[in-house]
Amino acid sequence: MDTRSRSMKNIVPYGYEMSAVLVAVVVMATQLAPSAGGSAGDDLRSLEAEFYRWREMDAPEFTTETGVHTYDNTVEDFSMVSLETRKAKVDDFISRLSIISTNGLTTSEKYSYEVFNDTLFMVSSNHIWRFYGPLNPINFLEGDQIDPTYSVRILKYETKEDYEKYLSRLQLWPTKFDQYITRFKEATKNGHAYHRVSVNKLPGQIQQLLVANPETSAYYKPFTIDLDKLTISTSDKADLRTRGRQAVLNMLQAFKRVKDYIEQDYMSQTRATYGVLGLPKGIDLYRACLKWHISVDLTPEEVHEKGREEVVRISSEIQTIMRKRNYTGTVAEFYKQLKEQPQFHLNSADELLKKYQYMIYDRIYPQLSKAFKNIPNLNVSVEAMPNDGPGGMYVSGTADGSRQGVFQVNLKRPNETNTFSMMALTLHETVPGHHLQSVYALTASLPDFQRNIEYEKYFAVPYHFPFYTAYTEGWGLYAESLGEYLGIYKDDDELLGRYGEEIFRACRLVVDTGIHYFGWTRLQAITYMTDHTPMSRNEIEIEIDRYITWPGQACAYKIGELKIKELRKTAMDNLGSKFDIGDFHSQILENGPVPLNLLEKIVNNWINEVSGNAATSNGGGATGHNPAVTNLPQLPNIVG
Ligand SMILES: *[C@@H]1O[C@H](CO)[C@@H](O)[C@H](O)[C@H]1NC(C)=O
Ligand SMILES: *[C@@H]1O[C@H](CO)[C@@H](O)[C@H](O)[C@H]1NC(C)=O
Ligand SMILES: *[C@@H]1O[C@H](CO)[C@@H](O)[C@H](O)[C@H]1NC(C)=O
Ligand SMILES: *[C@@H]1O[C@H](CO)[C@@H](O)[C@H](O)[C@H]1NC(C)=O
Repeated sequence: MDTRSRSMKNIVPYGYEMSAVLVAVVVMATQLAPSAGGSAGDDLRSLEAEFYRWREMDAPEFTTETGVHTYDNTVEDFSMVSLETRKAKVDDFISRLSIISTNGLTTSEKYSYEVFNDTLFMVSSNHIWRFYGPLNPINFLEGDQIDPTYSVRILKYETKEDYEKYLSRLQLWPTKFDQYITRFKEATKNGHAYHRVSVNKLPGQIQQLLVANPETSAYYKPFTIDLDKLTISTSDKADLRTRGRQAVLNMLQAFKRVKDYIEQDYMSQTRATYGVLGLPKGIDLYRACLKWHISVDLTPEEVHEKGREEVVRISSEIQTIMRKRNYTGTVAEFYKQLKEQPQFHLNSADELLKKYQYMIYDRIYPQLSKAFKNIPNLNVSVEAMPNDGPGGMYVSGTADGSRQGVFQVNLKRPNETNTFSMMALTLHETVPGHHLQSVYALTASLPDFQRNIEYEKYFAVPYHFPFYTAYTEGWGLYAESLGEYLGIYKDDDELLGRYGEEIFRACRLVVDTGIHYFGWTRLQAITYMTDHTPMSRNEIEIEIDRYITWPGQACAYKIGELKIKELRKTAMDNLGSKFDIGDFHSQILENGPVPLNLLEKIVNNWINEVSGNAATSNGGGATGHNPAVTNLPQLPNIVG
């Protein structure tokens, strides 16, 4: 399939193969034939800026999330024809990008060019899959029904105009919901529907929002006390409330149509196989999804094999500790008895919160300088998660520090949290994990489209703008391993917590490929996870249904981590005593999220530069920090 020929391998690596003479000739040529906008760098930046302005307009809800309120009055177009118009727009950007000569660019501009090119090609070349994922726009993991308070909370309610915008968005919502139904119908017509495990919770989730009195709806909340605070006339307020009430009513009715359709129609036409392999051209679809998520060329067989190898390796680490303790049962049994020990449980939410804070500020931060340089001075705070979600998640802040990065922790059931797993989770979500990753990218001078990434619409993959999951989540998992390098895990118990988290990510490679490529049943997948991870049956079932719903997504974590470890080893082998781990980490972090193939090139260029083999000296690797950069909040939800 053409989706598989999308490889970055044929791009000549910058730096080491270009002779000085060739560079001189190229520079002359660009000087002789200047393009309309000035230098190639200027042309690139202006095209990237234009692209991002289009993205802001095209994905208005995402734009609201980034803190930009220009399009608060609209919703995203889910019409069938939008599947074609977006491709045409992207192809236009591709043709305009292709005439910008990469020879005139600095090293960091070249990297940006490649991310831009990859972003555009990912969508254009996967247009052939538009009648698959994109036709199934909500599921039990994502969609408007998941957290209605979020889509309301991110809007602004300071003026009458803000309210008019919200009203207008509310009034357009039913159109979007009806477009969902049209898409779902097309999916069933083509035989491209989900398996029922992806949607069987959906009617219940929607039902919860269908209140009889619209004034008690989460969508009406801005019209209650918030509106009182506005300094507009009483009659204007009354008018806004009347229209708000009607708009919410219409919206809930449209939501009900989605629910009824799923229940009465779609559910009976869901696909028979758990994996996408049962769909027409399903195996090729899976390869395309996998490529989209892991951003390197690995076959499903290779991913599966890697997973099995890692499971064996991590199991043996666990077994070493089991032997020390004379434990003779299985790994799963070992963890089960560990989790039941009272010493690993806390009694109150307050104790749990304090323990997380102590881990971050007293145990991790003082060690960071052993492996990082020029650490941006942006702190992270720990707060209670509003809903009962995963154990923890990271919500990033702004570059100017006006909104801090937050580690949201689940404090709902403190006595069920296993304290021995807390350090691995903390390293992953905060420092040196997602928080550190986020602040390096935020303070680097990267174009908007590289800093504000829409981590949403997983259903649409592979016909979707990439968000480089393997880079972001690979880093998170790599950060867990850095805990060992930095000497942070204080005993075998915390190491067991770490191995438990790691083996679970390794199992995902086996199980995701198992389901979508090797035709495993749900039960086979559950059994494999039960045998090799510390997770409970209930947790495992939710996980498996997630893999069934998002083919390839769960593979990104382990593949990304392995790539970063591999690059570190390559750098150490090549540089010997010249290797500096702080500089290595700067290379990884200062260019922001990139495809793994590009990450490899970045590290190779750096190796050549440090070892003195570099033929060019323009730019000099990472983008460097630009303290002048302000605003741009970004990426609200990173799925863990
Ligand atoms: C852009 O990406 C396409 C598809 O991967 C590739 O064929 C092309 O060579 C890339 N262009 C540049 C200039 O890197
Ligand atoms: C394990 O067994 C050995 C030999 O019987 C014994 O010396 C050791 O103390 C035991 N270790 C633990 C942690 O129970
Ligand atoms: C970061 O914030 C925490 C909690 O507010 C505080 O205890 C700590 O001192 C701060 N660290 C820095 C470097 O400002
Ligand atoms: C945790 O505490 C709650 C409320 O106090 C209690 O109902 C529950 O059984 C406890 N769970 C465990 C595992 O101790």
